[in-house]
Amino acid sequence: MKLASFGTRSDEVQFLNEWAARTGNEIEQFTETLNEDTIDNVSDGVVGITGFQTVPYSAELFKKMAARGIKFLSIRNVGLDNIDLQGAQAAGVRVSNVPAYSPSAIAEFAVTMVMHLARNLGQVEQHLANNDYNGAMHYMGREIGQSTVGVVGTGRIGRAAIQIFRGFGAKVIAYDPYPVKNSDIDYVTVDELLAQSDIIDLHVPGLPENTHMIDAAAFDKMKDGVIIVNTARGNLIDTKALLAALRSGKVAGAGIDTFEYEEQDLLNLEKEGSFNDPIWDEMLKMPNVVLSPHIAYFTATAVRNMVEFSLANLTSFINDGTAKNEVAYK
Ligand code: NAD
Ligand code: COI
Repeated sequence: MKLASFGTRSDEVQFLNEWAARTGNEIEQFTETLNEDTIDNVSDGVVGITGFQTVPYSAELFKKMAARGIKFLSIRNVGLDNIDLQGAQAAGVRVSNVPAYSPSAIAEFAVTMVMHLARNLGQVEQHLANNDYNGAMHYMGREIGQSTVGVVGTGRIGRAAIQIFRGFGAKVIAYDPYPVKNSDIDYVTVDELLAQSDIIDLHVPGLPENTHMIDAAAFDKMKDGVIIVNTARGNLIDTKALLAALRSGKVAGAGIDTFEYEEQDLLNLEKEGSFNDPIWDEMLKMPNVVLSPHIAYFTATAVRNMVEFSLANLTSFINDGTAKNEVAYK
């Protein structure tokens, strides 16, 4: 069968080619993200698409896919927040994702950010970059093992993070509206978590109802000098409120892998060739902020699994009419 891959990254090519050679299928590969214009580039006979992007999959795209007889979109990642699922349903396009390609990849990255912030490495690096060896010696760190860590969201990634934090000896508390039954996780209310945590680590989906779950009022409830890390979705934190809390010292350090304006910034980058985000630029200059470009997932294990699991979903949709990770429209 003939498939197409959009948002294809150079690190994925070997896995896509290996899969095609092994299974005898053909995959057209496009580096562009999938949208209502780039869909025109697929050749006739393509029956399914695998996609990878954080910018939107629109209703218009799904209409065009259906008109081309392409009824399946299999994304290579977890988050569904950028997919117009109603648009997919209206066009009769079925969608799958890869809910678990390597939860520990993201959990380990979140902990890496916490470690960087807890030992003030950004400040140390800044002094050394200014040739100020002595200044770099004055940032006393804190130990994760002596801290209370609040994990928000105890799904696959949150639970992987809890295990790692416990390994340091930290006291770990958690909040999730759907607690894991019969687990040993120490659940508290969201307000208790905000009030008690020295370190807050977010692992919840970017559903509309979770937008700005961490806003100015939430920062007010936190301990002074809290560290907060977001490797989940940018919309969870009100970035302007975070900036205010960083400036006031309420927040001692922030780790942001998923930036609130990332989607729009990436669209600007595609259209105009530049990112141009003053808030990003301001945060980039702050030594107590560690920013990364949505790469918490990015390990060799994860990339291989994303490709393999996504293509397994796609071929199973086409051959058997079902896919293990089909996403329910809603
Ligand atoms: P999951 O579905 O296994 O778990 C999510 C958990 O969040 C669920 O238990 C759910 O009940 C809980 N939740 C929902 N709303 C909540 C709220 N308001 N407060 C507390 N808990 C809430 O998902 P997962 O695999 O753990 O992934 C979590 C998120 O991580 C994904 O939705 C995705 O947005 C993000 N992610 C980021 C990267 C990255 O590279 N940065 C990679 C993969 C996933
Ligand atoms: C996800 O899998 O949901 C991610 O956030 C990874 C991303 C690069 C799309």
